[in-house]
Amino acid sequence: MSCKRLLFALLIATSLLLEVQQACEYLQSGTSTTFNIGYPGPIKELIWRRKSEMIFRMKGGKQVEGQVLEIIGGSLKLSNLTASHDGTYEGEAFGNDGKSHKSEKRTICVMDKVTKPKVLVNCTGPTLTCSGVTLSPTLTFTWQQNRKEVPGTARTLGPKLKQPSRYSCTAKNQVSKETSAEIEVDCRGNNPGQSLWTLPGFEFWTTVLILAGGGTLLLVLFVVIVVCICRRQRHELNLQREEEELRLANLTHCQQPHPPGHHSRQAPPPKGHPGQHGNMHSEDQPPALPKPRGHNRPRPRPPHPQGPPPGPGASAPTAQAQEGATPRKGPRPQRS
Ligand SMILES: *[C@@H]1O[C@H](CO)[C@@H](O)[C@H](O)[C@H]1NC(C)=O
Ligand SMILES: *[C@@H]1O[C@H](CO)[C@@H](O)[C@H](O)[C@H]1NC(C)=O
Repeated sequence: MSCKRLLFALLIATSLLLEVQQACEYLQSGTSTTFNIGYPGPIKELIWRRKSEMIFRMKGGKQVEGQVLEIIGGSLKLSNLTASHDGTYEGEAFGNDGKSHKSEKRTICVMDKVTKPKVLVNCTGPTLTCSGVTLSPTLTFTWQQNRKEVPGTARTLGPKLKQPSRYSCTAKNQVSKETSAEIEVDCRGNNPGQSLWTLPGFEFWTTVLILAGGGTLLLVLFVVIVVCICRRQRHELNLQREEEELRLANLTHCQQPHPPGHHSRQAPPPKGHPGQHGNMHSEDQPPALPKPRGHNRPRPRPPHPQGPPPGPGASAPTAQAQEGATPRKGPRPQRS
C-alpha cells in the first residue's frame, strides 16, 4: 500500500518537475512579452501574480496595490526584459458575476544574446578553444571543420585535429547563436599558434615562393637602377674630360699664332672660369681650328638663334653636350 503511494507521489513529482522545466520560455533580453488574461468580459477586479505573489491589483478600474505595470485590457505587458523578470506569471480576473477566471500560467527565462566567438589555437596538443563568449550553463558549442559539423558540444576541440583544415565554432544558447570566423589551422611542424610564415589563404611553400619572387624582382630593379646611375655618371665624366681636352687644345692653339701684345691675349683664361673667358676668346677667334673637334667648341655666338647667351657655368655642360651630339653645319659658312 505505502509502496504504491510512494510510487504515485514520485510520478507526480517528476511530472511536475518536467512541467516546470518544459514551461520555461526563453526570451532574449531587451525584448518584450505580453501575458494574456484570456477573459473577454468586463473585469471588476484584476490580479497579476509572479511566483504566486501578487504584483498588481486593480479594482473598479483603479490600481489599488502592487507595482507600476503596463496593463492592456487586463493583459500584462513586460517591456525591455531582463533576468529580473524571470518567473511564472498568472493573472486572475473577476467578472460582474464575481466569479474567478484564471489566465494561463507562463514561465519566462530571460537571456542575453551570445556574443560572436572566436577560435583560439593552441598548437601544444593541438587544441582549439571557442572563446570570447560569456560562459553560462546553458551555453553549448559546436564545431565546423571545412564547413562540416563535427560531432560533440564541447568548448574545446582536439587533440585529434585534421590538418591543415579550416575550423570555426558556434556558440548557442536558448535565444541565439553566433558563429566565429573561419580560421586555417596547421600546427604541423609544431609552429606555436598560427604560423607567422603564411600569408592568409596560402600554404607555407607558396608563401616562400611568393616572398622569394618579390625579393628577386626588387633586387633586379635595384641593380638596374644602380647600373643606370653609374653609366650616366661615367658619361658625364667623359664629357667633362673631352671638354677639358678641347679647352687645353684651344689654349695652345690661341697662344701660338698670336704674338704678345695682341688684344686677344689680354685674357689668358684661368682654368677656374671657363665660361666667360672661353666665350670671349671664341668670339675673337679666327675661323681655323686645329682639329675637326674644334667645331664642337663651347659657347655659340650670341647672335645665333640656337645658342644660349653666355651665362653662368651651370648651363655649360648641356649646351656642350648638345653641340657635341650634333655638330653644327650652319655657322660655318657665316664664319668664313
Ligand atoms: C532597458 O534596460 C536596460 C537595463 O536595465 C537599461 O539600461 C535600458 O535603458 C533600458 N532601455 C529601455 C528602452 O528602457
Ligand atoms: C596549450 O596547451 C598546453 C597543453 O594542454 C598547455 O599546457 C598550455 O598552457 C596551453 N597554452 C596556452 C597558450 O593556452
